[in-house]
Amino acid sequence: MIINSIYADGYKNLCGADISADPKMNVFCGDNAQGKTNLIEAVWLMTGCRSFRGTRDRDFIGFEKEKADIRVSFTDCFRSQKIEFSVKKQNIKDKQITLNGVKLPLLSRLFGNLKCVVFTPEDLSLTKGSPDNRRSFTDLSVSQIKPSFVYALNKYDKLLFQRNALLKDIAYGNGDPSQLEMWDVQLAKTGAYISVIRNTYCNNLNNYTNSLYNKITDGSEEMSLCYHSTVYREITDDVEELEKIYLKRLCSAAADDIKAGFTTAGIHRDDVNVFINGLSVREFGSQGQQRSAALVMKIAQAKIIADQTGDAPVMLLDDILSELDDKRQRFVLENIEGIQVFITCCDRRILYGTPAKLFSVSAGRISETDKR
Ligand SMILES: Nc1ncnc2c1ncn2[C@@H]1O[C@H](COP(=O)(O)OP(=O)(O)OP(=O)(O)O)[C@@H](O)[C@H]1O
Ligand SMILES: [Mg+2]
Repeated sequence: MIINSIYADGYKNLCGADISADPKMNVFCGDNAQGKTNLIEAVWLMTGCRSFRGTRDRDFIGFEKEKADIRVSFTDCFRSQKIEFSVKKQNIKDKQITLNGVKLPLLSRLFGNLKCVVFTPEDLSLTKGSPDNRRSFTDLSVSQIKPSFVYALNKYDKLLFQRNALLKDIAYGNGDPSQLEMWDVQLAKTGAYISVIRNTYCNNLNNYTNSLYNKITDGSEEMSLCYHSTVYREITDDVEELEKIYLKRLCSAAADDIKAGFTTAGIHRDDVNVFINGLSVREFGSQGQQRSAALVMKIAQAKIIADQTGDAPVMLLDDILSELDDKRQRFVLENIEGIQVFITCCDRRILYGTPAKLFSVSAGRISETDKR
């Protein structure tokens, strides 16, 4: 997948940014607070995902601007495509979104078309942070190769919300405990399905991360990862069998759940366990090991999309290289060969000698430059 051009105007501080991209490497350099991450974010929104830094819709538009426009044209292995997005401050809910000229009602409907992997300094804490980061990582990674997975996740969230509401009602004496079963049956069905899909993804991810980690440590350390379920000891591919165990678990936890006021076991509490030389990275890993493990997970995410969809995603590296030592910087660049990349940095010397199209970013304006 290759982004050919990007236009962004009025998105936060971006001002008439009109970029014709290099099919391989694009470097955006500028001082702090000039608009580098805003550009990466504008592109990311066109993938149909929510902002990776939690920007709310009403903050899309520049403080002194009336509207924001983003346009991205890209080519996947089948054809050239174009996404156009426009939103006005007066009516933030009424977003104009088109994919190849066809109107879409929501940004999320763009999902599955332009595929990107975004990598920010926060991602370097993927292995040491809380389990919800690793669950989100897995869910997004799976959804990018299997967009229908999003429906299962949304369904599970809705069911969980309803069950938790009922648990609270029961605790306050307003709910009927016999109604729990109805939610349990549906939660078990959707939850078992999600756990099997996540587990399959993690097994596959493990193959990639194992060999990448081997490379980054010159074979001196071994990384492995696996899906950790809070429902069953072992995950098989037998969804029906798992569904039964899941249901039993929900039923047996009902009394505790009523006391707690929420559902204490389920895929919403699962995790991905990462080990180096057999020890949990989260608990025992050094900072360098935790960062390297996170790094290979992100690179593996991109490689899996490329291998399974036949289309490499575009890699958006926001300020990541400056966080890494020389060896890890080289490792990243060597292992994303064949993938179009957009890199932001404050100091262009980081990429000295690397062939790339260079842009400078200043006060929201972006211009091509040949200054090295
Ligand atoms: N809605 C908005 N309207 C106008 N400016 C905004 C809006 N939201 C954020 N900004 C400004 O955009 C500027 C650039 O932000 P951005 O995060 O893209 O900087 P950056 O170039 O990535 O900097 P750094 O190198 O520090 O990461 C910031 O000064 C921020 O205050
Ligand atoms: Mg930034």
